[in-house]
Amino acid sequence: MAHSFDPSLALRPGGTAVITGAASGFGRELALLCAAEGMRLVLADVDEIGLARTAELTGLPPQAVCAQRCNVADAGEVDRLAALAAERFGAVHLLFNNAGVIAAGAVWKATPQDWQWVFGVNVMGVANGVRSFVPGMLAHGEPAWVVNTASVAGLVCPPELSVYAASKHAVVALSECLHHELAASGRPVGASVLCPAYVDTGIADAHRHRPPELAERNPEDPAILERTKKAMQAGRLSARDVAQRTLAGVREGRFYILPHRSAVSGVESRLQAVLAGGAPDNPLGGVGVAPQAQP
Ligand SMILES: NC(=O)c1ccc[n+]([C@@H]2O[C@H](COP(=O)([O-])OP(=O)(O)OC[C@H]3O[C@@H](n4cnc5c(N)ncnc54)[C@H](O)[C@@H]3O)[C@@H](O)[C@H]2O)c1
Repeated sequence: MAHSFDPSLALRPGGTAVITGAASGFGRELALLCAAEGMRLVLADVDEIGLARTAELTGLPPQAVCAQRCNVADAGEVDRLAALAAERFGAVHLLFNNAGVIAAGAVWKATPQDWQWVFGVNVMGVANGVRSFVPGMLAHGEPAWVVNTASVAGLVCPPELSVYAASKHAVVALSECLHHELAASGRPVGASVLCPAYVDTGIADAHRHRPPELAERNPEDPAILERTKKAMQAGRLSARDVAQRTLAGVREGRFYILPHRSAVSGVESRLQAVLAGGAPDNPLGGVGVAPQAQP
């Protein structure tokens, strides 16, 4: 992929990486890999215990890692996170807008609170990260990169995950626009969108951090997420594998990072249906979220 600068320089020792959703799953593994690259870290999450554990696992001294409770759905909290990063480490070179949550069930049974919670974290969390950090990344003039975590569910539309899929399609759209706008800026800043399939992380238990005022959930959500969890546990790639493929994608300056090659056929089939004006195939094979049907 042709860039006017070397994207791998965004990962350099002594640079600073900001990671949201760093208390668990992909965020934690990205933190460990960035620490191993010699980067300084700003780790953010609503789970302070998990955050402290991630900071400890990096093995970095306190002067090289900062763990901050931050609800990414709250624009003011993300602004304060950016101010903290600037104060502690100056320029930010890598931004992972990674925090995310999931809700399941038929779309007509999704509650207003499902929409508000999932879009607040998954869509506004990414939008807030971009708004609070990208101006500084453009201004400092050093190579820098933004990675937004979407999902294969941002490229295909699995039934029973409609609220989640709608939010991840929004992340893909926002990221494509960001890519064009960064390219037009002429500054050495690029972007990727990460689209994994099922991986065994804490996401199927995302409701553990759901705010009490948004607690009312789709009645089908618990049973479907239990099945989703089994599909995730059967996934072939680990969170570590996904984090490694993500950093490799940044080094290569790739925009779309699809760690699961098996997901490509589902994307292809959907795009063919769009071009042919036909109905889409069910990416889960017509059987809902079942272990054998994972992308
Ligand atoms: N695991 C999968 O199969 C899979 C597949 C595709 C995409 N994803 C995406 O990967 C990203 C990371 O998820 P994961 O799978 O590592 O799950 P995870 O639950 O292990 O990690 C997500 C982290 O986000 C944090 N979080 C939740 N709400 C937050 C908020 N309001 N503000 C800040 N942090 C918040 C959680 O506390 C958690 O530590 C998410 O965006 C998810 O949608 C996951």
